Amino acid sequence: MHNFHFSPFTFHFSLFTFMLSLMTIAASAQEVPQLGNVMSRETMLLNGKWHYIVDVQEEGYYDYRMNPTRWGFFCNAKPQRPEDLIEYDFDKAPTMQIPGDWNTQDEKLFFYEGTVWFKTSFQAQVPIEGCRTLLYFGAVNYDCHVYVNGKEAGHHIGGFTPFNYDVTDLLRSGENVVIVKVDNKRKAENVPTLIFDWWNYGGITRDVMLVKVPNTYIENYKLQLEKADAKARQREITMTAHLSKPLAGQKVTLCIPELKVEKECVTDNEGNARLVVSVPSKRLTLWCPETPRRYRVDLSLDGKAADGSVVSDFVSDSIGFRTIETKGKQILLNGKPIFLRGISIHEEKPNGGGRANSTEDAHTLLSWAKELGCNFVRLAHYPHNEYAVREAERMGILVWSEIPVYWTIAWKNPDTYKNAQRQLTDMIARDQNRANIIIWSIANETPHSPERDQFLSSLAQYARSLDNTRLISMAMEVLSASNYKNRLQDNMSQYVDVVSFNQYIGWYRDVNDAPKMVWEIPYDKPVIISEFGGGAKAGYHGAKNQRWTEEFQENLYRENLNMIDKIEGLAGTSPWILKDFRSPRRVLNDIQDYYNRKGVVSDNGEKKLAFKVLQEWYKKK
Ligand code: GCU
Repeated sequence: MHNFHFSPFTFHFSLFTFMLSLMTIAASAQEVPQLGNVMSRETMLLNGKWHYIVDVQEEGYYDYRMNPTRWGFFCNAKPQRPEDLIEYDFDKAPTMQIPGDWNTQDEKLFFYEGTVWFKTSFQAQVPIEGCRTLLYFGAVNYDCHVYVNGKEAGHHIGGFTPFNYDVTDLLRSGENVVIVKVDNKRKAENVPTLIFDWWNYGGITRDVMLVKVPNTYIENYKLQLEKADAKARQREITMTAHLSKPLAGQKVTLCIPELKVEKECVTDNEGNARLVVSVPSKRLTLWCPETPRRYRVDLSLDGKAADGSVVSDFVSDSIGFRTIETKGKQILLNGKPIFLRGISIHEEKPNGGGRANSTEDAHTLLSWAKELGCNFVRLAHYPHNEYAVREAERMGILVWSEIPVYWTIAWKNPDTYKNAQRQLTDMIARDQNRANIIIWSIANETPHSPERDQFLSSLAQYARSLDNTRLISMAMEVLSASNYKNRLQDNMSQYVDVVSFNQYIGWYRDVNDAPKMVWEIPYDKPVIISEFGGGAKAGYHGAKNQRWTEEFQENLYRENLNMIDKIEGLAGTSPWILKDFRSPRRVLNDIQDYYNRKGVVSDNGEKKLAFKVLQEWYKKK
């Protein structure tokens, strides 16, 4: 019976723990704003084999009355005496590789949606003079509670953005234990909501690391090239930085050695620093797909805190400088019109092995995109890992980055809005210095309603308030007015810079209609076809009207590309999709087998006939 926890044993035990908790109230942790450019920091990776316990009924978190228990698995309790009753033991539990999803590492968990507990430990020598220690997660899907040495460090929801806790006061010298409760159950109020066409990979899916920062550190910063006339002899770069504390009068120095830039400024009362530097245009190579030039950028902080202690910090980054804007129906990169030769990508390993989370994974996927002739990728439908974004920047590939406001979100729920806004904030905070990211997308295929319009218009304006240097968009849907007339009519068009829509002529509609299709897009803005495509099982061949054959998909691509070529204002496209990807909505045996087969590459890396069709078309673009 559960209330053994409340036996005289437990009472004696609870008094002890209660005293302990009183003593350690001071030793609390707190969520701190996302640390910018964690990759340039002194870190200790906690990646590796973590023990895990599958906890279907959350026995480790709730008592049998469904009240959160103090004796949860986060205590990592061990029997002290022979008669002690502890009904879990992480150190006897199996292990899996972190980062990584649980679905592809334990076949019993392939379809599993629920709670899994993870445990790892590390040695530390504390305190570290003049420093704080942050515990940083690249992403955890979906709802997680983090504990350090039995104390809760924090609770985070959202499966695709980073978060970190200041755990300095929770650390002890010697062995430290980190326990993470992860729950990926789908809920109507979540973002994404109950249904979505991708696998709900659960777990600690990206890097986990301890990060050492000075007591006062550069929390985040942003560098952007200001727009200018093409003939401008000087170009201006604006730098803004924010300290972890509202300390005024601290010196922040920006250094871009290759551009002979070195300039100082001091922080204001909020701990914000801002400066503008001017660089001769001829000295600056602008970032673009053909020349993805990045410059080493150093930021240093020097000053004194009120108590006279030294304030000092340093971060270094590799940043490209470019401008992106629209002019009528054109997208201008560095002032010149560009056509976005794109493809959509889900964050799955190229070899069918679950969530991708490394530079190598990204490089393989992006190399296929390059082979297609792409200069642009739509990272769908959620922020992908930082390695992927940085590898695309290195390879000269422009990026559309999106938050999972997907299909039928709970528009009226204020917590759902806060959640979406938080994911947007974190997506921008992590990648705001990536030159290759040109579009922030705030939604995909959302049903029209006043509540939806309110939700999305607020998000769009909020995105612009965070970053007015990039384009805002979302993947809309067209209304088929009559057999062959398609009209894009969306109240959100006034809030976006690029009108993008998904269309599935040839798959969810008859391919033979393609040549007769008329597209009415009554907006003087660039148009992106953010999705089109159809399924094919690699190696399955037959007539072009035989669904699921490569010939059917090949023909669908040919017809669609001819059709969209006639769309006035077409500035780009990102066909659905680069690679077959897992989806619980795709259950057709021997064809889908829980894969969405709309890839132009199969889940084993085989290129389908449509790959060539798109490749040929991009050669002309
Ligand atoms: C939708 C949606 C995708 C989905 C695709 C499909 O447009 O945005 O997430 O996978 O259609 O049906 O294959």
